[in-house]
Parts: sequence; C-alpha cells; structure tokens
Amino acid sequence: MRSTPTAAQGAAARIPAQPGPRGEDSGGSAQAAPAAGEADPQDGPVAAAPGEAVSAGAGPVSRPGERATVRLRDADPDEPPRYAPEWLELREGADAAARAPELLDPLRIRLANLPRRVDGFVVHDLGCGTGSMGRWLAPRLDGAQHWILHDRDPYLLHFAAVGSPRSAADGSRVTVETRRGDVARLTPDALAGASLVTASALLDVLTREEVDTLAAACAGAGCPALLTLSVVGRVDLTPGDPLDAEITEAFNAHQRRGGLLGPDAVTVACEAFADHGATVRVQPSPWKLGPDESKLTAQWLRGWVGAAVEQRPELAARAQKYLAARLAACAAGELRVVVHHSDLLALARPTGGAS
Ligand SMILES: C[S@@+](CC[C@H](N)C(=O)[O-])C[C@H]1O[C@@H](n2cnc3c(N)ncnc32)[C@H](O)[C@@H]1O
Repeated sequence: MRSTPTAAQGAAARIPAQPGPRGEDSGGSAQAAPAAGEADPQDGPVAAAPGEAVSAGAGPVSRPGERATVRLRDADPDEPPRYAPEWLELREGADAAARAPELLDPLRIRLANLPRRVDGFVVHDLGCGTGSMGRWLAPRLDGAQHWILHDRDPYLLHFAAVGSPRSAADGSRVTVETRRGDVARLTPDALAGASLVTASALLDVLTREEVDTLAAACAGAGCPALLTLSVVGRVDLTPGDPLDAEITEAFNAHQRRGGLLGPDAVTVACEAFADHGATVRVQPSPWKLGPDESKLTAQWLRGWVGAAVEQRPELAARAQKYLAARLAACAAGELRVVVHHSDLLALARPTGGAS
C-alpha cells in the first residue's frame, strides 16, 4: 500500500549517511539529525535482536554500527529536538498513503477563488523537514506554485530544496525557496501574499500558544491552512497485548511534556482556527501498517516504546519483553498497526488582499 519514493527523490535527492552538508549557514549542523531514541532505520534487521533492550529515554540499545535517529533526550535539554532525515524518508510513503484526500477538493475550490497571481500560488510549508508535504501536494494541485519551505533545521531544509517537486498537476512550474526560522513565531506579515499554509506532523510538537499564533497569522493573511498527520493518541495493534494500553498512555503523557499538545493538537487547533473565524474540517489520516511496512513499523515501535519508558521508567522491564515480542511478530509479518492521525483544513475568511 505504500507508495514508492517519488521521482523528485531521485539520485540527487537521496539522503546520505551523515555527515550532512557542510558550509551551510546553519552554524554547523554537519551531524545528521536527531539523535534520539531509535536505531537507524536504514541499517540492520528489524527483528528483535536477542536481548534487545529498552533503556529509559534512549529507546533500544544500539547495535554496533547503528546510530540514533530520533532524539528523545538531548544532552542540552534547552535545545529543541531534531529529526533524522532517514526517519522522515522512512515514513514518507506511509504518510502519503495516509493523508486525507477528502480535504483536497474544498482546498482546490478555495484556491480557485483566490485572485490569480502571475507567479502562481504561494504556499508556505511550516516545519517542512525534507519536504514530504510538497512532494505529495504540489503534483495534486493545478497551476504554477511557489513553495516557501520553513524549518529551523538547515540540514533538513537542504534536502527539502534538493528534493522538491518541479511541476504541478497540469504541468505548470513549481519553484521553491527555503527559510530557516521558528514557525511558532510566525506573524501575519510573514504570510503576506500567501495562498496556502501547510504543515505535516507539526501541530503535535507545538504548544497551545504556538498554535494560536499560527491560527492568528493565517487569519490575518486570510489564507487557508492544510495541517496534516497530527497524532491523536490512539494506536491499534493486532494481535493485542495487555501492555498496549499502558504503553499508549505513557507515550501520550510523554508527548504532552513541557506543554506540547501531543494528542490534543487537533482539538486545540480546531478551537483556535474557529476562534479566528475559520471554517474547519477534520478527516482521519491513519497509518495502516502491515507486513509491507515492517521496517517502518519496527522503527516506530522502538521510538514509541522508548518514549513510554522515558516517561514511566518503572515500565522498563516489562516494556523490554514487550518490544522484543512485538519486533519478532513484526519481522514474521504477523503484526498490524494502525497509528491514528487527523488532517485538518481551516478555511480562513478571505481578507480580500493579495492572499
Ligand atoms: C515530525 S517532523 C515533520 C517533517 C515534515 N513536515 C514531514 O512531514 O516529513 C517536524 C518538523 O518540524 C520542524 N519544527 C518543529 N518545530 C519547529 C519550529 N518551532 N520552528 C521551525 N521548525 C520546526 C522540525 O525541525 C521537523 O523538520
């Protein structure tokens, strides 16, 4: 069911092993991204290694030659978490299959009613990562588009620029530029002239105040927002296990740490956009992971259980056995996982301006 990488992710856009690009204006993130808790999705078998262990805060213990990809606990707790491009690549097919197509027609209608700009629609993709959202959406919309890709991580912006789509559904030109910065502080000015704001897998790592700032900025610019793949805190594993509920609960608590919205993101965003006068629609967008997605499932399991144990260290011993059994079932093609997400389309009242 997963789509293969798009043409836009051709050889030039392949994500390399670290180190990343040097000489970026980043101040130096030559390291591949996050560090936290999961073993490298591109190396090694997905089956549980005998004795694979869960360590609180660090996910599974890495095997020789592996490196962490998603940091759950940074050396510097003030530094925001960073995301491994390998992890974003691994999930891109599942994300594409999960995104809610039902929201596209209302979006197309809204875009068709905007004043046409000579250079086409201007789309701001917030927290773009390596640009997965653009690779999915740009070829599904007609007309020339200019994508402004925002992220705080220059290493990911580099891959987003290189791997960006080149043409729209009707063959019109798609161009991109990148902007490094904190999307949680976006102002209506920053969105002046925007036709659309998008984000994917972002809302749940923001706070209530940050989502309200985003909703205000979209309202001020009068532009619609398509905010996809926010976790909703529900996971279905088949076959079930008595520990599923406890791990889910601990994971959700971990997601809410430090005031982040985690599984409350969609509810809070609906309220925030509605309070700013938008019409809001929500559609489910679950990952449905079966034997064909075993590599992603295994990696997701390691991160999911690792975060739960970081939140509740007393789970460690039971979680270690649980993870080993789950990974073995995954490797045997006997595990199915549904990770529930929601996509949200907010149609702001048009301002009558450029946007
Ligand atoms: C889970 S990743 C999703 C990436 C991409 N949208 C995708 O769907 O593959 C979240 C992304 O948001 C970025 N991010 C999170 N908070 C941010 C912030 N406050 N300002 C800018 N970027 C942020 C991260 O660097 C990361 O690239």
